[in-house]
Amino acid sequence: AKDPVRVLVTGAAGQIGYALVPMIARGIMLGPDQPVILHMLDIAPAAEALNGVKMELVDAAFPLLKGVVATTDAVEACTGVNVAVMVGGFPRKEGMERKDVMSKNVSIYKSQASALEKYAAPNCKVLVVANPANTNALILKEFAPSIPEKNITCLTRLDHNRALGQISEKLNVQVSDVKNVIIWGNHSSTQYPDVTHATVGDKPVPELIKDDEWLKSGFISTVQQRGAAIIKARKLSSALSAASSACDHIRDWVCGTPEGTWVSMGVYSDGSYNVPAGLIYSFPVTCRNGEWSIVQGLSIDEFSRKKLDLTAEELTEEKALAYSCLS
Ligand code: NAI
Repeated sequence: AKDPVRVLVTGAAGQIGYALVPMIARGIMLGPDQPVILHMLDIAPAAEALNGVKMELVDAAFPLLKGVVATTDAVEACTGVNVAVMVGGFPRKEGMERKDVMSKNVSIYKSQASALEKYAAPNCKVLVVANPANTNALILKEFAPSIPEKNITCLTRLDHNRALGQISEKLNVQVSDVKNVIIWGNHSSTQYPDVTHATVGDKPVPELIKDDEWLKSGFISTVQQRGAAIIKARKLSSALSAASSACDHIRDWVCGTPEGTWVSMGVYSDGSYNVPAGLIYSFPVTCRNGEWSIVQGLSIDEFSRKKLDLTAEELTEEKALAYSCLS
């Protein structure tokens, strides 16, 4: 039998946490034959709720679940973890300035970076979900210099999956038949959902849709605004789709992407596609042997170029704001 993999979920007493931990315990993230030990971290005010989640995990009697650590101590939570899914963060509350929210998250990600760097297993893979996801991941990278930058990513797979869903509904085809959409840039409303290279079967999506106007406006804004639409409908933010997409992200990263398919991941930019190096930016990637690589050589038309640059500008500005919170 395989040795258990230790998976950290921060913010585990929250909404996404509640949807995510049973998925991990059922093998959706790491596969149906991979035992897991869950490490759940939350803050002191949520300690009782966190313990309730632990009780439910025991009650669910998951065969793959070999242990549960539920704690408010970051060191205990991070010790020996192989995968870290960072869902905990400080949400924007009404009337708060952007800088104040950024400042709270910068200090959370700075201190959790240090705990991970010191106590996580070597080669731990990190996925940041909490917003501002790209910039939180960047701060985590800066303050965990001994964790290879390739190991620090953020979630844009939910946006990617939302784009697949929209195309599948528009064309009335199975979502599993839609391939190779791309989310470029920030997990925010400036992200660029791009179908230029997407296919259904072997046909290009733009040719099948035959509605350039929709692809260039309605489709893009629907995907960009989907999070807000879910909040409006549910009065709570997307949790099941976020949790499911986080599982997709880690599974593809660890187990590899299918031949001929790419996915979107927020990763440390090396300057590919003239995106400034040193940002965590969402790119199309393929994964193999536990490593992602950015898909190279895709053509970028003038419309796309502007969108790639716009979301990069926002990330550059966020990075500056984050740094100003440090000093
Ligand atoms: P939530 O508010 O229900 O849960 C967040 C949890 O984090 C709470 O239990 C809170 O106590 C905990 N927390 C706060 N500070 C912490 C710290 N320093 N250490 C550990 N835990 C801490 O929020 P929800 O709905 O679960 O969302 C979590 C985050 O994910 C939010 O930032 C949200 O904006 C983001 N998100 C990102 C998505 C993406 O695609 N990247 C999609 C949906 C949400």
